[in-house]
Amino acid sequence: MADLVTQVGTLSLATPVIAASGTYGYGTEFDGLVDWPGVGGVSVKGISVQPCDGLPATRMVETPAGMLNAIGLQNVGVEAFLNDKLPELAKLGPRIIVNCWGNTPEEFSEVVERLDPAGDLIDAIELNLACPNKKEWGRIFACDPAAVKAIVGPARARTKLPLWVKLSPSVTDITEPATVAAGEGADALCVINTVRGMAIDVERRRPVLSNITGGLSGPAIKPIGLLMVYEASRAVDIPVVGGGGIVSGSDAVEYLMAGACAVQVGTANLYDPAAPARISREIASVLDRLGEARVSGVVGALETSS
Ligand SMILES: Cc1cc2nc3c(=O)[nH]c(=O)nc-3n(C[C@H](O)[C@H](O)[C@H](O)COP(=O)(O)O)c2cc1C
Repeated sequence: MADLVTQVGTLSLATPVIAASGTYGYGTEFDGLVDWPGVGGVSVKGISVQPCDGLPATRMVETPAGMLNAIGLQNVGVEAFLNDKLPELAKLGPRIIVNCWGNTPEEFSEVVERLDPAGDLIDAIELNLACPNKKEWGRIFACDPAAVKAIVGPARARTKLPLWVKLSPSVTDITEPATVAAGEGADALCVINTVRGMAIDVERRRPVLSNITGGLSGPAIKPIGLLMVYEASRAVDIPVVGGGGIVSGSDAVEYLMAGACAVQVGTANLYDPAAPARISREIASVLDRLGEARVSGVVGALETSS
């Protein structure tokens, strides 16, 4: 059976599969539903300095081959996270990635500064620059290279923990924000967050989501994610964590071949809470079939020459 250990820079994961932020709560809710040693990591729901209620319902809707969400980054706030959630999650064993956000560069820095002293329990901090549902942002920060620079550089200075930066697919050229984030000291990139979209209720002549627009996730976005991982991983010399639409080990291996060294699985968790461990086992089967003893044997292994 292939060895599933993989490296994201200095961070070693037992398997390449991370439960994606916003789809696995604070991890603890899934205890009893998943085989933790089979999960590479959990990226917790995005944390902000103050608690956040998010947006009113309707916040989620199923779409062909995926779903739209406009949760609005609801979370308990950094203090309750550190006191109540993190110690419980730390007992369960998977690597802990703390996804976080702010409405300004200063708020991003503040939440990172508050998380940093808990570094013995936190394995990486993931800056979410790519939420499509925050009117307060004025735009998706990850689509504005100047905003990426203004957020990542100061946040980098606030922590020695591995700093990952999550990027948006809603750009024409993913290499621009990728290069800026790497230049500002990011240790890894997460590619991609959701794709902007909307759904309409014809009878009511209204948008389905209260926010009008939302973020599309699930299998519908996998081809977009693969392209962005392929391009981003060739543009920077820091690791790329891939994701978007992964529901099987074969999907995950596509991302690894495109250039990711680990993957994030989101929407699949909403109908199969054991998906991260299942997909890890399926990756091992695919590696066995391909005659690869290790994950590194397929990372970036895509052959494009004719
Ligand atoms: C309901 C929901 C909530 C999400 N919340 C967050 C979040 O708080 N922070 C973040 O960076 N990404 C968030 N995401 C994006 C996912 O982490 C993931 O990047 C995206 O859904 C693409 O992966 P998937 O197609 O496997 O779901 C959320 C996605 C969904 C479906």
